[in-house]
Amino acid sequence: MDKLFLVSLLIFLTVTPGVAGNMQDDKIRILGELEELDIAEENEEEILDIPSWTSEHGGKVLVNVDSFGAIGDGVSDDTQAFREAWDTACSTPKSILLVPPGRQYLVNATRFKGPCEDKLIIQIDGTIIAPDEPKNWDPNLPRLWLDFSKLNRVSFQGNGVIDGSGSKWWASSCKKNKTNRCRGAPSALTIDSSSAVKVKGLTIQNSQQMHFVISRCDSVRISQVQVSAPGDSPNTDGIHISESTNIALEDCKIGTGDDCISIVNSSSAIKMKRIYCGPGHGISIGSLGKDNSTGIVTKVVLDTAFLKETTNGVRIKTWQGGSGYVRAVRFENVMVEDVANPILIDQFYCDSPTVCPNQTSAVQISQIMYRNISGTTTSQKAMKFACSDTVPCTNIVLSNIDLENKDGTVETYCNSARGFGYGIVHPSADCLSGEDKDCVVIDHKETAELIEPTMDDHIVHTEL
Ligand SMILES: *[C@@H]1O[C@H](CO)[C@@H](O)[C@H](O)[C@H]1NC(C)=O
Ligand SMILES: *[C@@H]1O[C@H](CO)[C@@H](O)[C@H](O)[C@H]1NC(C)=O
Ligand SMILES: *[C@@H]1O[C@H](CO)[C@@H](O)[C@H](O)[C@H]1NC(C)=O
Ligand SMILES: *[C@@H]1O[C@H](CO)[C@@H](O)[C@H](O)[C@H]1NC(C)=O
Ligand SMILES: *[C@@H]1O[C@H](CO)[C@@H](O)[C@H](O)[C@H]1NC(C)=O
Ligand SMILES: *[C@@H]1O[C@H](CO)[C@@H](O)[C@H](O)[C@H]1NC(C)=O
Repeated sequence: MDKLFLVSLLIFLTVTPGVAGNMQDDKIRILGELEELDIAEENEEEILDIPSWTSEHGGKVLVNVDSFGAIGDGVSDDTQAFREAWDTACSTPKSILLVPPGRQYLVNATRFKGPCEDKLIIQIDGTIIAPDEPKNWDPNLPRLWLDFSKLNRVSFQGNGVIDGSGSKWWASSCKKNKTNRCRGAPSALTIDSSSAVKVKGLTIQNSQQMHFVISRCDSVRISQVQVSAPGDSPNTDGIHISESTNIALEDCKIGTGDDCISIVNSSSAIKMKRIYCGPGHGISIGSLGKDNSTGIVTKVVLDTAFLKETTNGVRIKTWQGGSGYVRAVRFENVMVEDVANPILIDQFYCDSPTVCPNQTSAVQISQIMYRNISGTTTSQKAMKFACSDTVPCTNIVLSNIDLENKDGTVETYCNSARGFGYGIVHPSADCLSGEDKDCVVIDHKETAELIEPTMDDHIVHTEL
């Protein structure tokens, strides 16, 4: 941890009355751990040494879907051509599977399975569209459309579009029409059980349900990906990360009808940088703990995000009755504009038609830092820490928070949440101190200035 920062913090703690010695040590340790939450880029080189095909397509074998009979008129069934092109590309070293620009390829639900020969590039410049009729969807693949699995060292790139043609799926969702049965719909693009994967530049839109799922993967770098669907399309998460480690998302623009990004069970070392979100439900960890399940998410950093007109900003959501934990999370440099719940921990999450009774078990939440988060909220409760009565949230750290409501006052809501703040914290979060009178929550300009100059120093260490 930065020495200057530590010194300032020590001075601050020493001049603050009522701070006991052990408490200081604890807080300094927690702060140190949160400051040092830098997620090592394992296999970085391995991912990055995959060339882009334009720069180096000399020794490459081009496998064009058109050579396998794809028509690309948006009406003809190009499924078979894509499957055959995949088999060829996958079994040929240094190949490029090309979906050429300027056309629309209609492709049914398909599993594109690896392992493949080394350094496969999937170059998508055209548009791939899904058949739009749920009734005709392959009943054997109800939850997927384009599913890639067991890949190592592959790169997905291009300026193409993956379009789920989801409107009929949305209309038949139980969220849209209560008389409909609740059943899952396909995810547009899935990368499963893979490692050292790069995804750059693609647009994924109008998915039947989730747009882009990364499951059981290690070392994935996603950059300049755009996701879009109408704000009222149900369950259309942008990028969904599950059971994955070492995932970096950068420069992504996401607007959908559900979470822009959601990170769930068994995920660790997730970095998100320069994310635009809106419309949507915000950037979420969870939901976790549904149906008494175990959910574990650790080491998540969001650095630099802009959220506009979303229902939530940065959120952690867990169901009653779950177990496991969310630990070591830093949300920083976030601007919100007209966001209903800019900062939210919701341990009473219940996305079911029936009420979810309170239970004694819950996913434990600790070591969550919010730093440099500002902007406007449309609700009074700019910060909400609604934690389980039996499993409190601990070590919530707030620093340089400035949230305003154009039409009124703002406040912080706490239930069973403990933590502290430094620098400017507005609205003040005194409720985080609970019965603990050693609170160091402050809303005091001079002390803030003492600490603030060292902050810039730290931003340097938090680069991706
Ligand atoms: C694609 O799905 C349609 C039904 O929507 C079906 O008629 C067609 O045979 C499928 N194509 C392939 C190659 O399975
Ligand atoms: C809801 O779905 C039912 C049956 O699927 C249908 O009859 C009804 O017209 C739908 N209602 C609306 C408002 O779309
Ligand atoms: C959570 O992840 C673990 C380990 O990957 C898995 O065994 C378990 O089934 C997952 N739980 C849920 C609720 O998905
Ligand atoms: C979860 O556990 C509670 C308490 O043991 C039990 O009442 C409830 O039925 C369980 N729910 C599910 C979905 O298993
Ligand atoms: C605070 O976050 C905003 C929004 O991302 C950013 O523009 C600004 O530079 C950050 N301030 C500091 C001191 O890092
Ligand atoms: C669960 O507990 C919370 C916090 O004590 C309370 O606000 C909420 O009303 C309870 N919910 C139910 C369904 O009892």
